[in-house]
Amino acid sequence: MEVRIYRYNPETDHSPYMQSYQVESVADGTMLLDVLKSIKAQDETLSFRYSCGEGVCGSDAVNVNGRNLLTCITSVNDLKHPIEIRPVTGMPVIRDLVVDMSQFYHHYRSVDPYLMVHDPVPEDEFLQSPEQRDKLDGLYECIMCGCCTTACPSFWWNPERFRGPAALLQAYRFVADSRDQGTATRLKALDGPYRLFRCHTIMNCVDACPKGLNPTHAIAELKKKMLKDSI
Ligand code: SF4
Ligand code: SF4
Ligand code: FES
Repeated sequence: MEVRIYRYNPETDHSPYMQSYQVESVADGTMLLDVLKSIKAQDETLSFRYSCGEGVCGSDAVNVNGRNLLTCITSVNDLKHPIEIRPVTGMPVIRDLVVDMSQFYHHYRSVDPYLMVHDPVPEDEFLQSPEQRDKLDGLYECIMCGCCTTACPSFWWNPERFRGPAALLQAYRFVADSRDQGTATRLKALDGPYRLFRCHTIMNCVDACPKGLNPTHAIAELKKKMLKDSI
């Protein structure tokens, strides 16, 4: 099996290049992460991230044959060969497939991803009806892998000003939470032409999400709420 991988070490390379590797005896259904590990055994200079190996930590997002995905839950059977692996787009490359996610986390922090409560906190617990809890389905499962944000053209062109689909999904996750009392603050922080409204509903983010989430829907709900509250 041939795997072509983007290589770039800013300390020693003038420019990025693609390096081809041959991997022998790959069993049916092998995950791409295991292929990368076997390449690393041939060439220890290759850099890539991973941690859980189970689709939970979100650290191994890369672009494969033009599509963002997690290597640990992608079978080589499902990929066109030769396989081409590049870093996700729109983030500075630190080395090979490892990118600097600082801007991504900056946007995440900017939406205050925690419950805001002004009333006295209940002594035992916050109660939620099953219907109120259901509203969080499709929102709380985000693993912050960045596959969506790094597939979003609006983010590529405005990485500092547009919050990106992952952070906006998180913003809506708290607006939709019956326990949260920070909706007005959250919507005010997203006001303006860039932070939220730069989303043009291109829906790359939905295609890219390995957890099957729908940031476009969350963004549309935020826009609706903001427009309704401004009338
Ligand atoms: S729907 Fe919006 S957030 Fe998602 S990829 Fe398109 S522009 Fe980006
Ligand atoms: S919404 Fe999906 S693609 Fe985006 S960060 Fe969360 S899990 Fe990853
Ligand atoms: S290694 Fe954790 S999600 Fe793939």
